[in-house]
Amino acid sequence: MDLIQRPRRLRGNETLRKMVRETRIDKSSLIYPLFVQEGKNLKEEIPSMEGQFRYSVDLLPYKLEELSKAGVGSVMLFGIPDYKDEVGSGAYAENGIVQKALREARKQFPDLYYVTDVCMCEYTSHGHCGVLCGHEVDNDATLELLAKTALSHVEAGADMVAPSDMMDGRVRAIRECLDRAGHKETPIMSYAVKYASAFYGPFREAADSAPAFGDRRSYQMDYHNRREGMKEALTDVEEGADIIMIKPAMSYLDLVSEVHKAVHVPVAAYSVSGEYAMVKAAARMGWIEEDKIVCEMAASAFRAGVQIYLTYYAQELAGFIDEGRIG
Ligand code: PBG
Repeated sequence: MDLIQRPRRLRGNETLRKMVRETRIDKSSLIYPLFVQEGKNLKEEIPSMEGQFRYSVDLLPYKLEELSKAGVGSVMLFGIPDYKDEVGSGAYAENGIVQKALREARKQFPDLYYVTDVCMCEYTSHGHCGVLCGHEVDNDATLELLAKTALSHVEAGADMVAPSDMMDGRVRAIRECLDRAGHKETPIMSYAVKYASAFYGPFREAADSAPAFGDRRSYQMDYHNRREGMKEALTDVEEGADIIMIKPAMSYLDLVSEVHKAVHVPVAAYSVSGEYAMVKAAARMGWIEEDKIVCEMAASAFRAGVQIYLTYYAQELAGFIDEGRIG
């Protein structure tokens, strides 16, 4: 055969395949989402997320040590309070669950990097991501509370804050509040491109944050829309977001790729609870090879253009990177 192009030439052996690999994955890109709850001596498995737990503050250090040993240097903290009210006051309480967790974690593992999820839904009695006016989430009234929450996280030791509420103007509100308090150097990772997604189902069980009525479609985006996602990304960069996140990851890689081209800040993707739960369930049935699927999902996010990947599989992925199975 007189073929000039033979793409298979570069696939002939492992050394060559690795030499020409386009996507390299490093452990420093991984962020592990972690749930902290009130109480003592608690490590409760989340039923819909086999292998994921809700830790009380006193047991958190054991998990942090494990992560740190595995080479996962960053975590994203979510709080599960004991007490909820209409205005989500636990989110910005001095002695709130995330604030307590941060102080303890910082003491024990000062070198880990602490990102916090900034949202109201785990703290409001109605489960919505902001305060209500009738049955509507009141955008502008919520901004002040989000800013207060972000500031209280930073004052308790957060290195970075990540607003996930999808209110308009929250990045600017948080930036101004942090700057006024002298935290000019604290970055904001915005969950900018966040869709109203059934993939969050298991998380809502984990965080006990399902809305008591209605759904989140008046603030999270309609998944039929790509241009709207771009608008959110660009708006948040203008408002001062340092990193743009796309969420969920797996079904939204078109957005990752497009956002990566359109903005000049780092891009993150969050492989959410439903993605994790599906892989776990299928693996348990013996229908897929879990390790290979996890590597393939991660590589596809990096290939699409992320620098940061949030995943409940961070620790396993770190191991796969060490073993050279991915990267
Ligand atoms: C809070 C928040 C959610 C997730 C991250 N931050 C839930 C939601 O928006 O309903 C989902 C994470 C996951 O599913 O793993 N608003």
